[in-house]
Order: sequence, then C-alpha cells, then structure tokens
Amino acid sequence: MLAGARLLVGVTGGIACYKSVDLCSRLRKAGAEVRVVMTESATRFVSPLTFQSISGNPVATDLFATPAQSAVEHIWLAEWASIAVVAPATADILGKLAHGIADDYLSTILLAFAGPALLVPAMNRMMYAHPAVQASMAALAGMGYDVMPAEYGHLAEGVSGWGRMPEPPAIVERLAGLAAEGRVPRPELPQPAPRDLDGVSVVITAGPTQEPIDPVRFITNPSSGKTGWALAEAARARGAAVTLVAGPVALPDPPGVRVVRVRTAQEMADAALAAYDGCDVAICAAAVSDFRPEAPAPEKIKKGEQDGLDLRLVRNPDILAAMGRRKGRRVLVGFAAEAGAGPEEAERKRASKGADLVVYNDVRRPGLGFGADDNAVVVVGAGGLREAIGPAPKREIAHRILDRVAALRRI
Ligand code: CTP
Repeated sequence: MLAGARLLVGVTGGIACYKSVDLCSRLRKAGAEVRVVMTESATRFVSPLTFQSISGNPVATDLFATPAQSAVEHIWLAEWASIAVVAPATADILGKLAHGIADDYLSTILLAFAGPALLVPAMNRMMYAHPAVQASMAALAGMGYDVMPAEYGHLAEGVSGWGRMPEPPAIVERLAGLAAEGRVPRPELPQPAPRDLDGVSVVITAGPTQEPIDPVRFITNPSSGKTGWALAEAARARGAAVTLVAGPVALPDPPGVRVVRVRTAQEMADAALAAYDGCDVAICAAAVSDFRPEAPAPEKIKKGEQDGLDLRLVRNPDILAAMGRRKGRRVLVGFAAEAGAGPEEAERKRASKGADLVVYNDVRRPGLGFGADDNAVVVVGAGGLREAIGPAPKREIAHRILDRVAALRRI
C-alpha cells in the first residue's frame, strides 16, 4: 500500500532519531518516495547527510535556507506529500501541532499538509506521562491524526518506562494501514457563509431546562445544546445579531453572540420572550421540560421511612406556542424531537403552535440527535414542505435551516 506513496518523514530531536534512518530505508524498500524534514535539534543527533543518502533526496531543515525562495515556495513539500509520518515526535512538535504553532520548517509543513499523518511520540517517560503531553496527543487524535502509542521499555535515561519509540517495522505497518484507510486530519475548511441575515435580530433557545424537586435534585433531559449552538454560530456568521437563551449546558459562549444562561423553563420563557419583542427571527431549539414540580421542597427531601414519594407536576409555559400567538412578521422555527412519530406529528405541532417551520428529528436513531455532533432532520413547513437534511454535522444542518429562514424573510 506504500508503493508509489510520496512520503514526508518528519524527524524531531530525540535519541530515537537513529531509528528513523532504518525507518526511511524500509519505507523506500516498500516502494515509497521519501523526503525528510528535520528540525534543528534533530540534526544534532543524526546528520542530514545520513537521511539524504538513505532517502535519495535532499533533506530540508530550514524554512529560510535559500534566501531566493519565499516561504510559500518552501512549503511545496506539503503539496507534494501524499502521506506523512513524524518519528520520533517530541513533546515539542506535539504541543506545537496541537496548538497550531508553526515556527520552523517541519511545524509549518505539517500545518499546511492536508493528507493522512502518523505521529510517533518518543521521549523521556516523565515527559510522556505529563498531562500537557497527554493532552496534546489526545487533541491530535481528536483532530484525526493517527497517534501511535509509545512502547514500554528501556529508555535512554537508563530506566524502563513508557516513552520508547516503536520499532520501524511496526511503524511501516501502521503507515500502510493508515494509507489504506485514508483518514485525514483535515479541518472542515470554513465555508464562506452568505451574509443574508445581515442586521437581522435572531433569538435562539437551546439546551435542556432543570426543574428543581429540592435543592439538590431536578428533572431534566440529555439535551447538549449543540443544535442551538450550531444555529447561533451559523446565524452570527451570516450577519445576524444573535441572542442565545441557554439552559444548563457545558458549552462555552460562541464568539459574538449574546448568551443568556438560565435554568428553569420559566426563566427560559422570561428571557426568550423579553428578547422576542425586538427580534426578527426566533428559533426554539431548547428541549424544554413540559412539566415542573408544583412545589419544590426548600430542604433536601429525606427518604426516612417512606416507601414511595408522590411528586405533583404542573405545566410549564410553552415558549414556542407563546411566540406563535404574537408572531407578527417574524419568522418562527420550532423543533420536534420524536421517538416514533413521523413528520406528520411535526406538522401538527407546527400548525398548533403557529410556527413557520418545525424541524423534525427521530431521537431513536443511534449516533444522531441528543448529545451527538450529527443529526438527520426533516424541515416541515406550510404547503406540504418536507425537506430531509442529513445525516450531516449539526453545523451544516443549521445552515440549511437558515437557508429556509432567509428565504421566508424574502417572501
Ligand atoms: N417548546 C417550548 N416550550 C415548551 C415545550 C416545547 O418552547 N414548554 C418548544 C421546543 O423548543 C420545540 C417545540 O416546542 O421547538 C416542540 O417541543 P416538543 O417537546 O417536542 O413538543 P411538545 O409540544 O411539548 O409536545 P409533546 O411533548 O407532547 O411531544
């Protein structure tokens, strides 16, 4: 699988550098064309000439080595390579890559490289165990890099521990697997969003609510808020002034968005309806608790000798329906999370709550919906409108919903 591959080998400064010479030789035997980029400190361990001889190509070490060429021309290697490996990968290069720092040739090329990349950490056992290094590795794995765990064994400092670089045959095998799989640590390149909501005021409800039973217990649901967040970010990108009324979720404020944090359905209703007055578009993406305990206990409820507990619940205000009653010229969007019912149930809710659109999703579909990053929905609207979107990332679904909102505003 590596035959014909254009392999970029990054070598950073660690004692395991010498193994990379063998790695390059094996990669060439496997039929790959190999070009090596070394960091400055790697050249202290092994001479670039060694890698040049073994790879059959010049070795790059310095971004500005040839004054005649610009830095842009220098990163042609990132375009040239079809797959990359960094072995050994020091704590330094892992930290840089995890944080998008490009301050030398190798880190610059790696950031500009858009293909599959294998990272092979190797370092002192205490460094390897350091939470900062572990966090870098976890972040890089999360971005789509293939991070090969270091091995346990004898280390340069004379003791055994985790941090040893795996042997070259194992690295070659892993690279071949990665080449076959074609996993790519590629960013979703931000798409330029249309500015079709410029100056439009948008209110979005998001997340769950919490309805207290007593000071330490409450009724809630597993809504993560991700859909509301995706909508807020997408609306902001399209030029809207966004107020996000959010129940308790673990997401940071999206940049450029006014966030009002609330707990209960009543608080959410108060904040959302206050913002509704001056808004042009309202989107109710929150999973609002329909009921709340009638009288939350002021003290923690003790189980005592009771073998049961009656909890009387009363209705919460329906925010979407309240907005529908005084909709005016606004565009109003609701959601319908259903566990069994089809889009016709969403249409029923749309009509009864007075919304323009209701976004239907089936919460039973595994890997989608509640808490997930992806969803599959059907946008339901007047006149029999049914637009199926996804499965797709919630961000993309958000933009497709806003396409509909922008279209409704033009009518
Ligand atoms: N909603 C709301 N306030 C509530 C309940 C729901 O604003 N108290 C909104 C949700 O944000 C969503 C829509 O209404 O946009 C649909 O909510 P859902 O709970 O699915 O529907 P219900 O009308 O509550 O119907 P049911 O629970 O009977 O399925």
